[in-house]
Amino acid sequence: MCGIIGITSTKNVSASILNSLRKLEYRGYDSAGIATLESGIIKEVKCEGRVDALEKNLSKQKIDGNIGIGHVRWATHGVPSTINAHPHSSDKVSVVHNGIIENSTILKKLLIKKGYEFKSQTDTEVIVHLITDYLKKNNLKNSIIKMLNKVHGSFALGIIFQDQPDLIVGARRGSPLAVGYGPNENYLGSDSYALKSMTNKVTYLNDSEFCIVKKDGVEFFDEKGNKVNKKVLELSKNENQYEKGDYKHFMAKEIDEQPITIKNCVNEYINRISNSLNIYNFPWKDKDISSILLIGCGTAYHSCLMAKYWFEQMTTLDVNVDIASEFRYRKNRFKKDCLYIFVSQSGETADTYAALDLCNKNNVKTCSIVNVVESSIARDSKFVLPIHCGPEIGVASTKAFLGQMLVLYILCLKLAYARKDIDKKIFSFKVKSLLELSKNVKKTLLTEDQIQLVCKSFVDAKGSMFLGRGFSYPIALEGALKLKELAYVHAEGYPAGEMKHGPLALIEDGMPVVVLAPRDEYFKKTISNMQEVIARGAKVLLITNKNKDEVVHENIWQSIEVENINDDLLPFLITIPLQKLAYHSALNKGYDIDKPRNLAKSVTVE
Ligand code: G6P
Repeated sequence: MCGIIGITSTKNVSASILNSLRKLEYRGYDSAGIATLESGIIKEVKCEGRVDALEKNLSKQKIDGNIGIGHVRWATHGVPSTINAHPHSSDKVSVVHNGIIENSTILKKLLIKKGYEFKSQTDTEVIVHLITDYLKKNNLKNSIIKMLNKVHGSFALGIIFQDQPDLIVGARRGSPLAVGYGPNENYLGSDSYALKSMTNKVTYLNDSEFCIVKKDGVEFFDEKGNKVNKKVLELSKNENQYEKGDYKHFMAKEIDEQPITIKNCVNEYINRISNSLNIYNFPWKDKDISSILLIGCGTAYHSCLMAKYWFEQMTTLDVNVDIASEFRYRKNRFKKDCLYIFVSQSGETADTYAALDLCNKNNVKTCSIVNVVESSIARDSKFVLPIHCGPEIGVASTKAFLGQMLVLYILCLKLAYARKDIDKKIFSFKVKSLLELSKNVKKTLLTEDQIQLVCKSFVDAKGSMFLGRGFSYPIALEGALKLKELAYVHAEGYPAGEMKHGPLALIEDGMPVVVLAPRDEYFKKTISNMQEVIARGAKVLLITNKNKDEVVHENIWQSIEVENINDDLLPFLITIPLQKLAYHSALNKGYDIDKPRNLAKSVTVE
């Protein structure tokens, strides 16, 4: 949600800011802007829409300067428009902001009384006027501390000052912020992805810290203004992971990368020689855990739901799943013998982070499953299991979903075996099956041609349903979510057995319905439910796995058969045609696949 960048250098910074904004665009893309300090005057160029539009504006209205800030917006307060686009400036300061100032209404009233005029509908403008006001009687550092004490909510900020030709202030509470170090220049950015083309040396700010970035050095402070010493981390230089290569969209590339990402992850976690799992330094004894609570948002929540089925099947643990935004405000009973597992691709999702923070404050066992290992969720969890997927840029999550499920499955196997809930034979069989997963994912990608034939029916329909039972139910939810996110058509994921309790009323002639019925223990039941929707006019796309003896085609519109693998792992395979269905449906409609409307990849507001 919103991306911020700041650069102080010996050179003109506009082009580098623009370049970084392109990288940050996955965080928000309804408006964009840049401000630099040119000959002692703050100059802004802003626009509604994408960074491309900003570039056009900049070619007409050139702004120079060796220091500047930039922003891509995902609107919270105020509609997407040029006037609401960041940076917001007075003649003294210019501010970019990611997050929400919760007490902005009260602060605005006070500032208006003092004579300050507001141009936009944003909450951010209160920061501009507060700092301008404090600067009248305080030095820069104290003005920042006073402003930070005054505002409530979550934010990451980048601030430049009219009388400071080489100084950017960065501050964070809740939302992520990193500092990068370059030759004769230094940077501030929402994430390392934005900074990577300029440096691989970064420092992450912790909550409530602020920093002063100059071109030859950076100082960090806690909320009271005491100096803090921070480590400089070195990031890997694998730049091509951030490029689309020959693909039209990151999403297509990321779907096709899944055989490799699965293989990499399996190689990290499985010791092929001893047929054991490489999960070292797990900080708790098996007997100290008697239940599990899995927490996430969006697609990550679906991987948590999936894991519940595996944990319940393989272990004797009590397992529950929660949506982070619900968990954080409920009256939870925190349990010392519960392992709280947080699943997040970005590791920055505000609700998931808040849920983790709540658990840490209640001193319970916290473990995270993340893609971005430098993220806030990874840093603040007591134990971290990375999914080793490489950067995921497409807003709709694909390879990270398979990666999350894989690591959850591996953790489940580890706990089940350690607790003696499964014996060595079963454990070895399941571990061996995992070694086959990548190859089968690769073969299942070949279902693409069949998917291309059916997607038109989905985009032309009023709505569609995705049905599954047991292991296939969370995948039905994920398939429906993907279609909604990308093709903007109503799609509902439902447990197949629940249709008769209401949703069956929605089925009408010609409605496309995806039925997920791999040949597992739920197969026969799901096929009966499928016939019930067919009898009411639905056009069924059946997704099952290959089987020589039993061919199901009675009254079915289309069917797609994925590879055969151990039943536990079928959810991975049946996900693939659903990812492709969403992708081709969006392509068919000509939508912006990597940046669906109204969405953003990293949701750092609650
Ligand atoms: C956004 C993304 C989703 C993602 C969700 C949770 O809504 O568009 O694809 O599943 O956030 O993100 P996380 O980074 O916590 O997995």
